[in-house]
Amino acid sequence: MKPQVLVEAVREYYEECGVNIHRGLYELSEQATNRYEETRGLVAEFLGGVSPTEVVFTSGATESINLVAFGMRELLSEGDSLVVTMSEHHANFVPWQQLANMTGAELRFADLNDDGLLNVKDLLLKVDETTRLVALPQVSNVLGVVNRISSIIHLIKLKNPQCWVLVDGSQAVAHIEIDLNDLGCDFYVFSAHKLYGPTGVGVLWGKIEALEMLDVYQTGGDMIERVETSGTEFAAVPHRFEAGTPNIAGVWGLGAVLKWWKELDRDEIWRTESKLVTRLYDELDAMESVRLLGGQERSSLLAFVVDGVHAHDVAQVLAEQDICVRAGHHCAMPLHREVLGIAASVRVSLGMYNTRDDLERLLESLQLAMQQFKK
Ligand SMILES: Cc1ncc(COP(=O)(O)O)c(C=O)c1O
Repeated sequence: MKPQVLVEAVREYYEECGVNIHRGLYELSEQATNRYEETRGLVAEFLGGVSPTEVVFTSGATESINLVAFGMRELLSEGDSLVVTMSEHHANFVPWQQLANMTGAELRFADLNDDGLLNVKDLLLKVDETTRLVALPQVSNVLGVVNRISSIIHLIKLKNPQCWVLVDGSQAVAHIEIDLNDLGCDFYVFSAHKLYGPTGVGVLWGKIEALEMLDVYQTGGDMIERVETSGTEFAAVPHRFEAGTPNIAGVWGLGAVLKWWKELDRDEIWRTESKLVTRLYDELDAMESVRLLGGQERSSLLAFVVDGVHAHDVAQVLAEQDICVRAGHHCAMPLHREVLGIAASVRVSLGMYNTRDDLERLLESLQLAMQQFKK
């Protein structure tokens, strides 16, 4: 479900503007550029009042992380290490694995506690003076648990002040107030669609001094200061990371969505979501054949398995009742297979549009699925 302001902003771009940014002196081009750059400011404000210069637009969290990983290739060599956690989405796992393969750096894996939260003791054991970057999820996209990122980052920096920390905020931005001045990370990423925004737009925020150390990920138009046959001078950050024509309509849409968020009572939304997820957790916890993944304190998503029934079968029965849940590994295979010892789970993701009635219907349909498959 998407807010109407998003649809309207995208329509407005294609029907009333439709031209490129940073190129023309005519009024439409200036309008396209201004709204694109205004969105950069809105993102900076949304992230707690950081500098818009530190905000890079990408196609999503995946591209944001790849941009950093690719950009670090010349900064790493054998003898260096990278740390990821066992609860990562593949987007915050595979790029680091590839970077380690390419550079000879060692990839280390930080364990989780039984409740699904990061095991801080183990994480700190994995960080030493060779560690160049730690990649963390603020909220796990499977377990739903909210990691106490700010204090974890503080401890990492005490152990190695030079080590960068990248936080994947994809599952957090729609449910938690973000203040990057408080978090203390070096990079923060998310996808706009997780905020009820457009698909195909993402954000990479980085400390300016960290961004300036990265090699550019892509080269071409719009990212240069000067091009000569003898070589190219790149534009300053953030534009040097935005080669080619971007998703202008999407960025306009994200701007409209961020203005819409400012008008909402976010605390009230989160209180309501939290009540719903707690109720769902308690109901599922009371079902003998259901195993919940992760502890009780959580953001508004919840994954589980039903004894003796494949996750796809559960999801299929729910789909027949027009209830949309996901089934599978949710792009977190190491977590499923190597930590939880399962191939797949069912995941319910609640949003601000869900009601208590939705929960009742879900629970009824789940009972139905269990009866059907246990026969
Ligand atoms: C925690 C987390 N990180 C990263 C991603 C990747 O986002 P995208 O596919 O929009 O790049 C997702 C998507 O579901 C996610 O949940």
